Amino acid sequence: MKKLIQLALVGSVLIGQGLMAQGDVEAGKAKAAACAACHGADGNSMNPAWPKLAGQGAKYIAIQLKHFKSGARKNALMQGQAMALSTQDMQDLGAYYASLTTSPNAANPDTLELGQAIYRGGIMKKNVPACMACHSPDGVGNPSAAFPKLAGQHANYSEAQLKSYRANERDYDSAKIMSGVSERMTDEEIRAVSEYMSGLH
Ligand code: HEC
Ligand code: HEC
Repeated sequence: MKKLIQLALVGSVLIGQGLMAQGDVEAGKAKAAACAACHGADGNSMNPAWPKLAGQGAKYIAIQLKHFKSGARKNALMQGQAMALSTQDMQDLGAYYASLTTSPNAANPDTLELGQAIYRGGIMKKNVPACMACHSPDGVGNPSAAFPKLAGQHANYSEAQLKSYRANERDYDSAKIMSGVSERMTDEEIRAVSEYMSGLH
């Protein structure tokens, strides 16, 4: 676990060096017009398969856009969107979405207990680490380390991402941390923790 965190920190410092400049919120707002159709006018998408970007960390957003553009993170809808973006565009879009407010979701009471146990304590017998160690107790993540915010995110989206990490389909540098975290999780555990995180706010 300690090793994972060290790896994560080293990774994010390395990635961060390419993204030192600050984004501009107003410029990002203008550039986000094309994104609203899927991610919502206020950054909170209606379709639970499409991630909310409102309140997400600026650095994390810029890094993901870079990965979509290069094809390292595979998604047909997003690769087309990211293709035309410059590094400055990515930083501006990140700054803009980070300035917006994540809309709240209700947690599913049926999976609350299991989801909460995993989020807060991991699954000790399988060496699955506590999610809150990196994503913080309230799920806001760690913006400067580019650990994403998970609180309020659509459960369907988080679930799909965890399965994608587990299958090594989302497998560029920083994603390997999450492949390690998710590799011993069952579908049921992934669903429960995704629903729990969705209810955090
Ligand atoms: C046609 C719909 C569509 C449009 C338009 C679109 N996106 Fe996306 N976006 C998606 C989908 C679907 C995903 C989830 C991809 C996946 O499952 O990996 C996504 C994922 C993302 C992510 C990753 C979020 C995370 O939590 O990892 C970012 C960042 C993002 N989009 C930014 C943008 C920006 C900026 C624009 C406008 C320039 C945009 N998107 C336009 C559909 C869209
Ligand atoms: C050692 C630090 C660390 C731990 C522990 C950790 N994560 Fe992560 N997580 C990350 C990093 C870093 C990323 C971004 C990876 C990338 O670039 O794709 C991430 C990404 C994610 C994403 C994708 C978010 C998005 O918007 O696409 C989900 C979902 C997630 N983690 C859930 C979890 C869950 C559930 C646990 C606990 C079982 C957990 N994480 C434990 C560091 C961690």
